[in-house]
Amino acid sequence: MEIINNLQWRYATKRFDTEKKLSKQQLDLLLQSINLAATSYGLQPFELIVAEDSSIRGQLGEAANNQKQVTEASHVFVFAAKTDISNEYINSFVERISEVRKIPLSELADFRTKLINSMASKSKEDRFQWAARQAYISLGFLLSAAAMEKIDACPMEGFDRNRFDEILGLKEKGLASVVMATLGFRSPEDKYSTLAKVRMPLDRLVTVV
Ligand SMILES: Cc1cc2nc3c(=O)[nH]c(=O)nc-3n(C[C@H](O)[C@H](O)[C@H](O)COP(=O)(O)O)c2cc1C
Repeated sequence: MEIINNLQWRYATKRFDTEKKLSKQQLDLLLQSINLAATSYGLQPFELIVAEDSSIRGQLGEAANNQKQVTEASHVFVFAAKTDISNEYINSFVERISEVRKIPLSELADFRTKLINSMASKSKEDRFQWAARQAYISLGFLLSAAAMEKIDACPMEGFDRNRFDEILGLKEKGLASVVMATLGFRSPEDKYSTLAKVRMPLDRLVTVV
């Protein structure tokens, strides 16, 4: 029941306590939860930008309809999906498997070809949308891990992606922002913290066949 209690406790935090910051251990734990998320083939086709600089945070806030979380939270994580999946990236991934699992590259040749063919079978836009979906899975891992540690968070899509990409210089890195999360600790002034959670009854969500 503790998991459910913690998931009930979490909510999309609108106002953060500007005096409370994540400790280094808490930050590391959150980053690891993102890195440990499942991704298709394990390819992790996205990167995470941790926005710390206050001037950058100010610009991001403006590009996010001035939503206060962006400037008031302890940390801002921007998930940026790869705008394409190059063969070089696939090669570096296969090399990493070889190194970590101590498997000769020759034994991974078929897997490498499978990945290259799988990516080649999609359009560039489909590859980007696929990469974005992988980033969202890691957002889910992050939100759950934060709740387990009683760290508050707000997942956010309400921002101008092109402006975010410009502010963070993502385009030249082959990345595009897709979603962000602000993290920290709720302010006592956040009226949303006491609202009842609105969810469908389980029997409207779930069909057993
Ligand atoms: C992908 C995604 C994007 C969201 N974007 C925003 C946002 O831009 N601003 C905001 O205040 N809340 C945002 N939310 C929070 C949702 O409104 C919130 O999760 C939903 O109303 C359910 O409430 P709860 O999370 O507090 O249980 C977003 C949530 C998700 C999952």
